[in-house]
Amino acid sequence: MATLSTTRVWRNCNLATMQAGDEPYGIVEDAALVVEGERIAWTGLRVELPERYASASHEGLAGRWITPGLIDCHTHLVYAGQRADEFEQRQQGRSYADIARAGGGILATVRATRGADEDSLLQGTLARLAALRREGVTTVEIKSGYGLDLATELRMLRVARNAAGTSGMHIVTTFLGAHALPEEYRGRADDYIDFVCDEVLPVVAHERLADAVDVFCENIGFGLQQTERVLAAARDHRLPVKLHAEQLSNMGGTALGARYGALSADHLEYLDVSGVEALARSGGVAVLLPGAFYFLRETQRPPVAALRENGVPIAIASDCNPGSSPFASMQLMLNMACVLFGLTPEEALAGATRNAAQALGLEAEVGTLAVGKRADFVVWNVEHPAQLAAQFGPNPCYRVVARGDTLI
Ligand code: NIG
Ligand code: FE
Repeated sequence: MATLSTTRVWRNCNLATMQAGDEPYGIVEDAALVVEGERIAWTGLRVELPERYASASHEGLAGRWITPGLIDCHTHLVYAGQRADEFEQRQQGRSYADIARAGGGILATVRATRGADEDSLLQGTLARLAALRREGVTTVEIKSGYGLDLATELRMLRVARNAAGTSGMHIVTTFLGAHALPEEYRGRADDYIDFVCDEVLPVVAHERLADAVDVFCENIGFGLQQTERVLAAARDHRLPVKLHAEQLSNMGGTALGARYGALSADHLEYLDVSGVEALARSGGVAVLLPGAFYFLRETQRPPVAALRENGVPIAIASDCNPGSSPFASMQLMLNMACVLFGLTPEEALAGATRNAAQALGLEAEVGTLAVGKRADFVVWNVEHPAQLAAQFGPNPCYRVVARGDTLI
């Protein structure tokens, strides 16, 4: 039980609680928020602050806004090297898929990452996490998938786990062994899936290095049968699943994932109505990745209207990686999700908070300002929460608090 000495009252603020309900953004104006230890203990109108908090330490916020800590629910931010040369090639007319088929793309980053030691991977990771944190991110999902061999996949996941302590952020890890076919398995995709399921996943599960399992289901990734084998193996290890699906073509990965109770299906530019309906029935989250859409100059947009009509929760994420979305900025994603995909600022912010929490299975812990949840929140120098999606550049982040501790 927290005592008053660990109780802190944040007052003279406005809350965008992001709780679903009648009030847009879950707004409470002229509010207070009380933290006891690592948890939110009370939220409400300032004038209704219970007397028992009168002697706790108070911080006045001069009318600033508080939102839940932002959540980046899909990243690949443990990697070595960079791929600006591929950007140069794409600007000269070569496609992302062509570069991948010629051994570049994901495999270029695999070569660099296999050659990097744990410490240098950690330094790069911490720099990218710091960029996210400066802009209000408190929870980040990080995938493996640039190792594609046992040692490097484990190294990536360890780096991701270790980054949690140093960054003060909540890190969730995902095993993405089925991200691409490594060169040594060329022409033997089924053998590689055997290796992922029989030799890598059991070690990852035994060492508790991953919180979920992901597959790149795509014509330049893995087919439906191969994807299903990985999903089934994950289920055997009692790990939840998610997918990269319908990014470059409609393969039916989303519907397959829905059958396995996937937490989310991510990308989704080519998702059709039957895929949307499958996702709606399964309760999975649609994670949209506007950075990759923008950077690859895609033209096919995800089916936002159908997702809305079917009540599928929409999350947004940075997909931070060196090839298709080299952006460590959730503020930029908020803006891009609105301009490129037609989300409203409120939908975008829900996508970076409440719905992103659900995409990670963390909805009971984070994602809204609610009593009992982890005290992860951001104080912003804005006049209204819509401003978070409506501008980019001057960083309005005033404080970032995670588990009750002020990180920034
Ligand atoms: O989410 N689509 C597959 N994986 C990443 C791209 C990784 C890369 O190009 O390095 C993505 O876009
Ligand atoms: Fe991705």
